[in-house]
Amino acid sequence: MQAGLDGRVLTFTKAGFAAPACRGTGGGTLVMTETELQQADSILGQFDDRRANLIAILQDIQAHFYYLPEDVLRRLARKLRIPLTDVYQVATFYRCFSLVPRGRHQVQVCLGTACHVRGAPRVLDRILTDLKLGAPGTTRDRQFTVLTVRCVGCCGLAPVVRVDNKTHPHLTQAKVRGVLNKYRLKRQSQEEVASAEEAGDRDATAQVG
Ligand code: FES
Repeated sequence: MQAGLDGRVLTFTKAGFAAPACRGTGGGTLVMTETELQQADSILGQFDDRRANLIAILQDIQAHFYYLPEDVLRRLARKLRIPLTDVYQVATFYRCFSLVPRGRHQVQVCLGTACHVRGAPRVLDRILTDLKLGAPGTTRDRQFTVLTVRCVGCCGLAPVVRVDNKTHPHLTQAKVRGVLNKYRLKRQSQEEVASAEEAGDRDATAQVG
């Protein structure tokens, strides 16, 4: 399903309505820190207080926090002056939004017929083992969320796994570690850059002092 709103073209899968998440359930809605609340306010502040902005704001919140924290949804409802239930109706309607924390990387394992007969269940097992998960879900460090899906539309490449927006074709158990490592390495190099910058800042401050 596609929807155009405020100039954005969105591709959504209709997931139907679900009950809003509660604190401590389904992986746990986390208590937000003061910094995170400031980040949320900064996202909200980028939009006019118009209801037409609802989905665009939800997208930005999801992109930043990898889920829709309850505290932020309450602030959003106040900002747009709409009932919180209206916010939840939209937030639970589209599968691209999550009310429980998701990992930085979404690993979608296709278990459609073509992928299934070409070994997708074994690939899924290896992914879960590698990420130390007993079942599809989110890793403790919130780097990966594993989901199973039904046919992502490229059966000729089966078995297929999508990580974020990239499709990994003809996946085998032997290739799983290599694919996941690419995303682990990305994270490591980002952390190395951040820590190098931090060290540079400290050196500069010491020289000035
Ligand atoms: S069944 Fe997996 S892409 Fe179609």
